[in-house]
Amino acid sequence: MEEELKNNPITNSQNGVVVDDEDDDTPTLSLETLAALKEFLAEQNGPPVNAEPEEKEKEKEKKEVALVTEDWRLSQFWYDRDTAETVAHEVLTLSQPSQSQSDFRVACIACPTLYAYLKNFSHDISVQLLEYDKRFEQYGNEFTFYDYNQPEELPLEMKRAFHVVVADPPYLSKECLEKVTQTISFLTRPGESYLLLLTGEVQRDRAAELMSLRPCGFRPRHSSKLGNEFRLFTNYDPGNRLGGWEQED
Ligand SMILES: C[S@@+](CC[C@H](N)C(=O)[O-])C[C@H]1O[C@@H](n2cnc3c(N)ncnc32)[C@H](O)[C@@H]1O
Repeated sequence: MEEELKNNPITNSQNGVVVDDEDDDTPTLSLETLAALKEFLAEQNGPPVNAEPEEKEKEKEKKEVALVTEDWRLSQFWYDRDTAETVAHEVLTLSQPSQSQSDFRVACIACPTLYAYLKNFSHDISVQLLEYDKRFEQYGNEFTFYDYNQPEELPLEMKRAFHVVVADPPYLSKECLEKVTQTISFLTRPGESYLLLLTGEVQRDRAAELMSLRPCGFRPRHSSKLGNEFRLFTNYDPGNRLGGWEQED
């Protein structure tokens, strides 16, 4: 628990939020984002900060997927639209050879934005969201409560059941990645499943050691600007997609 708090960039203070800039390995908020947050807290019941003209906002809503508000105490940083769409397209591409999309099972570990975009693109695709935040119970039986501290406390029917697993662990610690790796091993079919891991550049060596993952050229971005460099790691060569696979030295 102590470790968890230490690794969480957001810790309680008077207004509930401070930036931990002691550890470069944790996702941190840029000054710009922090300023926006302060303004937001001050005007919590008022209009959104930097509200766009009404028409433009409505137009945007039509195309963007609606998401619940980020809870930074849970290390929630949602992807920006381009990132969510790029990763969702990749998962759909991987599902193409399958006869029927409903037989092709995708697990999203701690990445609710991806779940929402995938379902927006294709109602037929079978996606299971494994998440700690119970607000996502709204997704019915496609939501499974998941705490990375109990990496294999999952329904038995999920064992080796998924063709694609996408994970975005809440913390950048070794312990967190090791536990999420245990979950991924539980869910995947050895040598058959596609893995996509979205996390900090600082996890590069661990991702290679634990799961033989390599980074792609594509750089994930978030709606809130984070100070850390984020990467997308895969266990397969995406060809020209996702900015290609970075070559080994
Ligand atoms: C870095 S965010 C990834 C979200 C992703 N960028 C997206 O847009 O969908 C980490 C996620 O881990 C979840 N989380 C927080 N604590 C967790 C825990 N103990 N076990 C599993 N997931 C947790 C958060 O709710 C959040 O969705």
